Amino acid sequence: MPRVAGIVMFEDQFWGRAALQRARKLNSLRALAFAPHPTHIKFSDMPEPLLIAKSERPLYLLPAMSNRHGLIAGATGTGKTITLQVMAEAFSRIGVPVFAADVKGDLSGISQPGVENPKIAERVRKLNLSDFSFAGCPVTFWDVFGEQGHPVRATVSEMGPLLFSRLLNLNETQSGVLTAVFKIADDQGLLLLDLKDLQAMLQYAAENAKQFQAQYGNISAASVGAMQRGLLALEQQGGDKFLGEPALNLDDLLQTDSQGRGVVNILAADKLINSPKLYATFLLWLLSELFEKLPEVGDPEKPKLVFFFDEAHLLFSDLPKVIEDKVHQVVRLVRSKGVGVFFVTQNPTDVPDGILGQLGNRVQHALRAFTPKDQKAVKAAAQTFRPNPDVNVEQAILELAVGEALVSFLDEKGAPEIVERALICPPRSQIGPITPEQRKQIMQNSVLAGVYDTMVDRESAYERLKGRAAPSAVPQQADPASKPWYGDLLGSGSAGGRRGDSLVEAMAKSAARTMGSSLGRQIVRGVLGSLLGGGSRR
Ligand SMILES: Nc1ncnc2c1ncn2[C@@H]1O[C@H](COP(=O)(O)OP(=O)(O)OP(=O)(O)O)[C@@H](O)[C@H]1O
Ligand SMILES: [Mg+2]
Repeated sequence: MPRVAGIVMFEDQFWGRAALQRARKLNSLRALAFAPHPTHIKFSDMPEPLLIAKSERPLYLLPAMSNRHGLIAGATGTGKTITLQVMAEAFSRIGVPVFAADVKGDLSGISQPGVENPKIAERVRKLNLSDFSFAGCPVTFWDVFGEQGHPVRATVSEMGPLLFSRLLNLNETQSGVLTAVFKIADDQGLLLLDLKDLQAMLQYAAENAKQFQAQYGNISAASVGAMQRGLLALEQQGGDKFLGEPALNLDDLLQTDSQGRGVVNILAADKLINSPKLYATFLLWLLSELFEKLPEVGDPEKPKLVFFFDEAHLLFSDLPKVIEDKVHQVVRLVRSKGVGVFFVTQNPTDVPDGILGQLGNRVQHALRAFTPKDQKAVKAAAQTFRPNPDVNVEQAILELAVGEALVSFLDEKGAPEIVERALICPPRSQIGPITPEQRKQIMQNSVLAGVYDTMVDRESAYERLKGRAAPSAVPQQADPASKPWYGDLLGSGSAGGRRGDSLVEAMAKSAARTMGSSLGRQIVRGVLGSLLGGGSRR
């Protein structure tokens, strides 16, 4: 049964705040029946449930449950990307911006209205979609390499030592050294923005390893050498384009157009996917940024952003346990920031159990079962659904046609509905890629044209270290220009006070909040560590 599109509104003084919140949560007219003395009723523009598929009945993805995450799984060519497209279109229609990585380039078609074709017409007829019409979505293209979209960048210090360790494939010892190098940079007020800053910083730390040893531990030449080689490889993969400024302003991902439709942000990932570590690390970084920068919203009526993570198996393959735990944590916590994360992958077993358990909205396309291992995976996938006596899930998974799936979305109380075998709606936008000319046109007409196009190279560690001979051994003796930006806040006696001092941390934190200067934020992030940097903020 489709829910009534509209929540009942009333005056707070007659109906207490708690009841109001409860009603919002239940998100249903039913709440009214139990509410004391509703006095004044009107309908607001509560977002409509999103029709994604139909079995005997229509299957709706509820906007209020979309921050409880989801999974789109299925073998190659079974309809995952189109399902993603149909969901993204629906979110866009209700004003929710979307971020999706486009691994094969075929998602770009979402920017254009679809065209009549017999297969679509047949599906529209079968599903009896009376209000179906072709339409494209507003789209912003992004590209780490700056070719097929606006360049998207992060600074080295925003990435933090943990993600960098993953990117460079470091072992524990090397990763410890890298963390020390980040700390030295922080203590000396040296900004790590781009790859050459990090390269310069590594060299500086290695050359002065003796002076740093007492405070930061052993900075071995072998570890530094390994990192330098790693950085070189990263540069060859295009990491030098991705790391630097102007860094991405997250607000630019949270846009709606003049008609109130959510903008679909498409990251060109066809080339990026050839560097799986860079791809996975980048998306992980983005997720952690969203988590850090967005305010708490609890359980909103609709998400602030929905994030589709295609080829998700790349994220999890040989993921070190520490990072897996962090991903788990970010996925769990980002929900209260109103961000929904949908993983797209071939097999649900690609996703670690702890994370899989958090993915409430499920679309399972066909799987193949050639080997005993495949068969086991099919069984495992089948068991993740709430059973339906009318559907033999294990058998159905093997029989599903293209664009057909086993579907279970969360109901209004957050419980999974029983699984249904259903046909996914056809997309309203174009199936398949757009032409390079069309892409160029969209990029030129974008409000972001020119904002990120040119890389800026402001004074940072590389420039500061050029020509500097010996390090200042301890932060207290650092020259005034390089003392931490929050030094003055701590009183003259303790400028650049000892690290790990909780008062210093607390002050730095609160100062960063009030000042909000980007320089301050970058250093504080380094000092305190982001969630992904293994910090203790939560
Ligand atoms: N819901 C649908 N409505 C109409 N056509 C569909 C639908 N789903 C899939 N198709 C058709 O099937 C083709 C393959 O689907 P899609 O590209 O989504 O598969 P995929 O699972 O993403 O494959 P891959 O693993 O190769 O990326 C589409 O190009 C389209 O023609
Ligand atoms: Mg696909």
